[in-house]
Amino acid sequence: MMRDTLPAGIVDEVEALKREAGIAACSFVKGGMTLGLGTGSTVRYTVLELGRMIAEEDLDVVGVSTSEATRELAEGLGIPLLELGDAGRIDLTIDGADEFDPDFQLIKGGGGALTREKRVAAASEAMVVVADDRKQVPVLGRFPLPLEVGAADVSAVSEELSSICSGQVSLRGGRDPYVTDNGGHILDCEFGPTISEPLDLEHRILSVEGVVEVGLFVDMCDAVVMSTPSEVLTMVKRGGRLG
Ligand code: 5RP
Repeated sequence: MMRDTLPAGIVDEVEALKREAGIAACSFVKGGMTLGLGTGSTVRYTVLELGRMIAEEDLDVVGVSTSEATRELAEGLGIPLLELGDAGRIDLTIDGADEFDPDFQLIKGGGGALTREKRVAAASEAMVVVADDRKQVPVLGRFPLPLEVGAADVSAVSEELSSICSGQVSLRGGRDPYVTDNGGHILDCEFGPTISEPLDLEHRILSVEGVVEVGLFVDMCDAVVMSTPSEVLTMVKRGGRLG
């Protein structure tokens, strides 16, 4: 979203960082795994690399996609796919994020796929996030928090949210609303960098009738592969499932 309004040279640098993080995360992948395949421009490089590893190195993995866009990409690369309901246990999900904090809590949904991303992550034994260093924040909330809402519930939820959210609540796409893979819409809620208790906020927002899902991923992420202009860092959560 807003991060992509950057000058061309910087866009190239950012793209290179996304690619490095996306590819480096494949070091977590082992043959025989069922993998949750995230959505977005960073994890796209992970999916491309998995396609290459399958084609060139006989990597034996099965994917579960978190969006129609990722499904199309994976299918085109010859990555075998299962539906979430048929996959049983997912060994590892690799996905992007809009923000991550020092406790590995996330804001996701900039690409609008938060509901399926969260379901796939919740069904996973572990989750690795791929990101460049712009996504690392001390406190969540500079990135507007996305919520998926049923199409018929936009007005009622927006009104209810105005008492929870400190800033503006905007319907993504405005008069031509963005439609999710589930047929819902996205509300982007401005909090500013104030979300220090993401679990409480998640519960409050999910209690609003008409909210399908909120883009706070609390205690789901076990490691972040983060690219910086000088290196790629793998940060593993202490006490997490990969620690
Ligand atoms: C999609 C997401 C994305 O993972 C998130 O927006 C990060 O995307 P990108 O890697 O393109 O910055 O949550 O719903």
